[in-house]
Amino acid sequence: MTIVRTPLVVGNWKMNGAFGANQSLLENLLRGLVQKRLPEIGVCPPFPYIAQVGALLANTPIVWGAQTVSEHRAGAYTGQVSAPMLKELGCTYVIVGHSERRQYCAETDDAVARQAVAVLDSGLMPIICVGESADEEATGQTLAVIDRQLAPVLLALAGVADEGTTVVIAYEPVWAIGTGKTPTPEGVQAVHAHIRKRLDAAGLVQTRILYGGSVKGSNAELLFALPDVDGGLIGGAALDAQDFSTICTAAANRMV
Ligand code: PGA
Repeated sequence: MTIVRTPLVVGNWKMNGAFGANQSLLENLLRGLVQKRLPEIGVCPPFPYIAQVGALLANTPIVWGAQTVSEHRAGAYTGQVSAPMLKELGCTYVIVGHSERRQYCAETDDAVARQAVAVLDSGLMPIICVGESADEEATGQTLAVIDRQLAPVLLALAGVADEGTTVVIAYEPVWAIGTGKTPTPEGVQAVHAHIRKRLDAAGLVQTRILYGGSVKGSNAELLFALPDVDGGLIGGAALDAQDFSTICTAAANRMV
């Protein structure tokens, strides 16, 4: 089997946006993406803007997704949004297990695994986030934390995965998110190589591993040149059309 991992850049808008601002951001971004060779590109706006973003991005090289999802398909779950609903909105990706969801919404490793399965069941692609906190990093627990977070996901996927199953893993050290700090390139590569080993053992050899946490136009090239970094999950810089398109160009350079 040939292993092809198309580089992927996904913008996580978090709880940012407004109709006017979304439109100008996307128009500027599309104008900035002039090069012929592009990576796969997605943006994940808050739920209320998914339909607008979908309408603006139809027939463009950019696809869209959501930032979280219910593990349930339908029913009495006030305030939740299901994967079939996101499918109807034309989503391609759903981010699950972002550290802000784990932290502020008490999402557990098991709940994240159930969400990933719900996403796959609806024919969408989960982007499953893992990553250690500052304390865990300082006490040398990074790989153990990642193993703990990945374990229920890999177990759940073993039950549902087939050759066509596509999941994406995003390694996001919590201490690097929104802080301007990033691990050293060697540090990023070491964690990605560890995740790759786990994915290979689970038969998920095509899985892309994104790096997230303070990726900017100025450091993307260096990070995306690492052998096991297949692209990025971008927060703050995804709200700046110029920075985001520079990041997309850096990911495209992996293809040449
Ligand atoms: P950041 O966020 O790029 O603003 O650090 C990344 C993320 O939270 O996905």
